[in-house]
Amino acid sequence: MLLAGRVAIVTGAAQGIGRACAARLAREGAQVAACDVNGAAVRELAKAIEAEGGRASAVHCDVAKPADVSKALDETLKAFGRVDVLVNNAGVLDDAPFLELGIDEFDRVLGVNLRGAFLMAQAVARQMVKDAGSAAAGARGVFAGASSGASRGAIVNMSSINEKFGLPDHVAYSVSKGGISQLTRSMAVALAPHGIRVNAVGPGTIDTPILAGVVKDKAFRAKVLSRTPLGRFGRPEEIAAIVAWLASDEASYVTGTTLFADGGRLPLNYVVPVAEEG
Ligand SMILES: NC(=O)c1ccc[n+]([C@@H]2O[C@H](COP(=O)([O-])OP(=O)(O)OC[C@H]3O[C@@H](n4cnc5c(N)ncnc54)[C@H](O)[C@@H]3O)[C@@H](O)[C@H]2O)c1
Repeated sequence: MLLAGRVAIVTGAAQGIGRACAARLAREGAQVAACDVNGAAVRELAKAIEAEGGRASAVHCDVAKPADVSKALDETLKAFGRVDVLVNNAGVLDDAPFLELGIDEFDRVLGVNLRGAFLMAQAVARQMVKDAGSAAAGARGVFAGASSGASRGAIVNMSSINEKFGLPDHVAYSVSKGGISQLTRSMAVALAPHGIRVNAVGPGTIDTPILAGVVKDKAFRAKVLSRTPLGRFGRPEEIAAIVAWLASDEASYVTGTTLFADGGRLPLNYVVPVAEEG
């Protein structure tokens, strides 16, 4: 198991990629605090994880609200005593052409996707640094993990291939993911002296509820697949596998990077042929 004995907070854990991450981290031995604005769904998820023999708690939390973020951390510490991993996954999508995008919608998307990620990451990193300070005091200031490659903490931010592309109808979303990319790099450098690694995952098109409105639309599918050399949408579990690896000591020398899982979209120029659906 990659994460035996670790404590992980996963935001946006009620469904889609976040749910798959919470389930995978639990199967890798982590005790998981599943956070979401959908409190009922994370309570159900925590029960499902415990029924499979894992350990999990559920926290109702809006990552855009500092008080909720503090509450999520406090409840995690109360349940499991510490925090080793944060998966900053909660995200929302705007849906308006640039010229019609309102300021409230821009603020809402940035508030969850970027401000929320910053708030969670800063609160969790402060706790990790505090805990490391206590441990170091016990070990006469020597970072016990330095020679073994073990890290004191790992943060994984959920970005998107759209941190690289311009999206005329989802401007706030692509701006938020561009911000996640910079947040990842800046935090990685800031937290490296504390033994905390910070990385991001950049999914391509993954079949989750965020795409429920369009995923069955033939024209949308053809558009996506013409830009996807592997010829299919991704699955939430395929993103969760990368998150588990980045959070683990297997990735002990990886920090400040975004790992793209996009079926080959980023290196593609032009388009690939798509078989017609019946
Ligand atoms: N599905 C894709 O194709 C895709 C591609 C690239 C990146 N992503 C990113 O992956 C992440 C998860 O996406 P998904 O497809 O699973 O979406 P989803 O809509 O299925 O799930 C998002 C979850 O976040 C929760 N959430 C929303 N606002 C919140 C808030 N303020 N506080 C706490 N929780 C909140 C929702 O309740 C939901 O459970 C997002 O950051 C998204 O941008 C998704």
